[in-house]
Amino acid sequence: MAGEEILTQLEEIQQKGLQQLQGVQDEESLQSWRSEFLGRKAPVMTVFSKMGEASKELRPLIGQKANEVKAALEKALEVRTNIIKQSALERSLREEKLDVTLPGRRSAVGRLHPSTRNLRNIYSIFAEMGFQVYISPDVETDDYNFGLLNIPKHHPARDMWDTFWTTDDLVLRTHTSPGQIHSMRENAPDPIRFILPGMCYRYEQVTARHEIQFNQVEAIVVGRNITFADMKGTLNTFARRMFGENARTRLRPSYFPFTEPSAEMDVECFVCGGKGCQICKGAGWLEIMGCGMINPIVLQNGGYDPAVYSGFAAGLGPERIALLRYRIDDIRNFWANDVRFLEQF
Ligand code: DAH
Repeated sequence: MAGEEILTQLEEIQQKGLQQLQGVQDEESLQSWRSEFLGRKAPVMTVFSKMGEASKELRPLIGQKANEVKAALEKALEVRTNIIKQSALERSLREEKLDVTLPGRRSAVGRLHPSTRNLRNIYSIFAEMGFQVYISPDVETDDYNFGLLNIPKHHPARDMWDTFWTTDDLVLRTHTSPGQIHSMRENAPDPIRFILPGMCYRYEQVTARHEIQFNQVEAIVVGRNITFADMKGTLNTFARRMFGENARTRLRPSYFPFTEPSAEMDVECFVCGGKGCQICKGAGWLEIMGCGMINPIVLQNGGYDPAVYSGFAAGLGPERIALLRYRIDDIRNFWANDVRFLEQF
């Protein structure tokens, strides 16, 4: 191709490009225009490969012209781009309506697990009565979990079906009561007033009613002249703070190896008010904890002389109380961590 022809061609490219650009109205056609006229394979870019066909004299002219055309197209593209952007902005201002009075979207915040909240509520009720929190281990020796609590070898609670054994002598505690021995041994002969909260484990078939793990909160008081009346007053105060000022309670005789005498505390059914319903199975009362005067053998194992000191202990299951209170029909919900359940608290 002769040099002159290339020059005319360049001239035409420029005209054609500028003309077509006038018709470009949106971002998309702008992109295809760009690749047609300024892309790697666009004629203005490939002109240099045809340079060999032109005469020596014309070559610099062609190079110069090609650069001019390219610059002109680039400049025009920039102008066009701005026009398109501007009109898109104007359109959106015209057409999109913003309602500044709409309430903002609330961002999701985390929250405490219902069991943690429940536990903290229990801590604060006991704290007001002067109880401190004492944390004792989840893994216990056979002796702490059973023997020192006056649970003889043949006691059903020692049945291997109830207990997770780690080695021959170690167990996952089946209740928080071993904490009684720890807290007594650490403090004897000083008077103590502790609650011992924590996870307990039982080798159970998991069902809607039974879990292999659950919390317990144990309360223990040891000192001189601690009586059954002290226990009754303390536990009644707890029940009223937990279930409402008008909550009625009763103590029923019971048996636990580590207390003598032993009792269970019932609270009047908060669902039916004592009339009898499905939740309390017609009884009008719900059992909320075991309690009793600490057995002299256990006091002695804790390092207190039972001739001088006495005390009481109680154990309650917070998840059991929450189940009754919120009428949760499946205990497995507590540890399944399904937010649809957790969000309801
Ligand atoms: N440890 C008992 C259990 O797991 C509950 C209990 C009953 C604790 C009576 C006590 C108590 O401190 O006095 O079933």
